[in-house]
Amino acid sequence: MKRIKAIIYGVGEMGRLMTRIMIEKDVEIVGAIGNKSNIGKDLGEVCGLGYSLNVKISNDADAVFSSAKADIAVMSFCSDMQAMYMPTKKCIENGVNVISITEEALYPWTTSPEITKELDELAKKHGVTVTGGGIQDINWISLVSVLTGASHTIESVLGRATGNADDFGPVVAGHFHVGETKEEFESKIREQKLEEGFMGIALESVIADLGLTIKQKKQSMESIIAEEDVNSVALGRIIKKGEVLGAAQIDEMTTDEGIDFRAEFIMKVYQESEDDTNIWVIKGYPDLYLKQEKFSGSIMTCTPTINRIPDIINSEPGFITVEKLPKIRFRAHPLHYYLNK
Ligand SMILES: NC(=O)c1ccc[n+]([C@@H]2O[C@H](COP(=O)([O-])OP(=O)(O)OC[C@H]3O[C@@H](n4cnc5c(N)ncnc54)[C@H](OP(=O)(O)O)[C@@H]3O)[C@@H](O)[C@H]2O)c1
Repeated sequence: MKRIKAIIYGVGEMGRLMTRIMIEKDVEIVGAIGNKSNIGKDLGEVCGLGYSLNVKISNDADAVFSSAKADIAVMSFCSDMQAMYMPTKKCIENGVNVISITEEALYPWTTSPEITKELDELAKKHGVTVTGGGIQDINWISLVSVLTGASHTIESVLGRATGNADDFGPVVAGHFHVGETKEEFESKIREQKLEEGFMGIALESVIADLGLTIKQKKQSMESIIAEEDVNSVALGRIIKKGEVLGAAQIDEMTTDEGIDFRAEFIMKVYQESEDDTNIWVIKGYPDLYLKQEKFSGSIMTCTPTINRIPDIINSEPGFITVEKLPKIRFRAHPLHYYLNK
């Protein structure tokens, strides 16, 4: 069985970490696509490996696809389907499967139905699979769906998660308005592109997995204001008292079946003693409670994404969202050991 060949598409915080994880699972990195920073540099050096991978970071995606035959592109540079569309189309047309941590790609069937349908049809035509993954695959989808297996009746499903904006790059800090003034925050949220919060997109996947039908949905965002000066690694400066430390995305959904869903995702710059948490409360018969703490959101973004690679290569072609893939699991061996063909 041959080693899996991958192109890393986006070499920011997450792309660098996923590169290191893939190498440890014996994936061969055959290309790296960036934007402006680190172009022409060796991927190994940029990822802090201390040795060269003989892969130069390029911003010419066509040149990368024509010089390197890859099984999969591991994508991490955007959050919405509009930005993911052209790069994904390019991957598909070059016969390359895609796993992307683009938040909307986790379940884009309702938020960007046309683009998703088009990519689905194109992927089927070229015999490849496109999937959105990341921390949500575990914390906000698989764990929640499995927990409902203990329910006889459900009245509501409530989720609350926190993340440290300093664990990610500037793109994530931007989504949560870190460092803005209160006035900038208020004016920007009116123009925000995403129809739903990141946790709301995951709720859609859970709702689809449970065979329920959404009746109504509502999304809002609330700022969290710094009560003292706080240093931010992601911004590379001090966030002053009174500026935005982060924000909470709140998603509420009702269903035809009478089960209500609510999720609150807080992303902000942590102060000492704060930690990532992921809490789910299912009200019904019986009441169920799940709490995760003391995990790293950035590592838990990258490890499930890489563990998913064999599932995606093995999958039927199309835009396949994670609730349709096999149960996600640990990979003890090099990733190509898990390929069916
Ligand atoms: N699903 C999840 O679990 C999850 C978790 C964390 C993050 N994310 C998302 O993943 C994305 C990356 O996060 P991050 O923390 O790695 O961000 P980051 O550190 O800010 O890095 C983003 C990288 O993408 C590059 N880039 C921008 N446009 C590009 C393009 N068209 N082609 C190739 N590269 C391009 C940027 O290059 P330049 O600097 O040269 O512009 C930068 O290196 C964000 O959108 C974030 O919201 C998802």
